[in-house]
Amino acid sequence: MTAPFLKLTDVCKSFGSTQVLKDISLEVKPGEVLCLLGDNGAGKSTLIKVLSGFHEPTSGTMEVEGEPVKFKSPRDASDRGIATVHQFGGTFPLMSIGRSFFVGAEPKKGWGPFKRFDNKFAGEIAVREMRSLGITRITDGNRLVGGLSGGERQALAIGRAVHFGAKLLILDEPTAALGVKEATHVLRIIMQARQQGLAVILVTHNVTHAMKVGDHFAVLIHGALAADFRKGERTREEITDLMAGGEAMAELEAEIAAYETAHEGHAPEAGDLERMLNEK
Ligand SMILES: Nc1ncnc2c1ncn2[C@@H]1O[C@H](COP(=O)(O)OP(=O)(O)OP(=O)(O)O)[C@@H](O)[C@H]1O
Ligand SMILES: [Mg+2]
Repeated sequence: MTAPFLKLTDVCKSFGSTQVLKDISLEVKPGEVLCLLGDNGAGKSTLIKVLSGFHEPTSGTMEVEGEPVKFKSPRDASDRGIATVHQFGGTFPLMSIGRSFFVGAEPKKGWGPFKRFDNKFAGEIAVREMRSLGITRITDGNRLVGGLSGGERQALAIGRAVHFGAKLLILDEPTAALGVKEATHVLRIIMQARQQGLAVILVTHNVTHAMKVGDHFAVLIHGALAADFRKGERTREEITDLMAGGEAMAELEAEIAAYETAHEGHAPEAGDLERMLNEK
């Protein structure tokens, strides 16, 4: 058994009186892709913000490599090897590829070429890292990030995380805005990161993408962990149903069936049905 890189126990997050995350317990292991699924508003981004130091949990504990952690800022999370790539790659359209590669990663004590920012060197490293992820069309690190395609931007952001030693890569909807070919390329890069032993959390609404790369799946419904299962344990239909909050529907169907059994096969009246729905 591989020890988890990250372990959450009963993590809750409330904003004022609104509870957005309820008792989330999860483990993320090196060399595995965890797909975080759930409908709009289920709490996926909030969970990711807790993991990446943007929000502090209201209660519950987090451990990184077996040590309890409390992140006060995104910097604390990145110091522990947690890199989050936001939907648009967290990049800056008017910056050169090389410069954006090193943004926020300037060494704390100046060393070598970075005492003064060496644009040429930075561009070369960025181009090399993208090339190692299969992006071969970019050869000039001085090009502006704004001119890259969506897939190339994802590759830049992922390459950057890998280059700076991330151990957990968190990707929030990395394929949402991409065409089929580019999305496939990004999925391939995710598999490559996984093969290098990184832990990956992939947030996606796309069941096909999730099933292609996922080792482990967690489904959030209304801020609670509705399902936590491994590859092969659920069918595509079951996953799709869960993502649409299907568990509540399944419960309702079971209740209706029970009602019918108890009432000689008669379906519930509108009033009773409404009451059942309201209890959901
Ligand atoms: N800072 C905040 N203050 C109050 N409520 C918030 C805050 N951030 C998120 N929420 C609420 O928490 C719930 C979960 O939001 P979240 O963004 O985590 O959902 P999500 O699963 O990422 O959805 P989507 O798939 O649409 O991106 C929503 O109802 C949202 O309005
Ligand atoms: Mg979200």
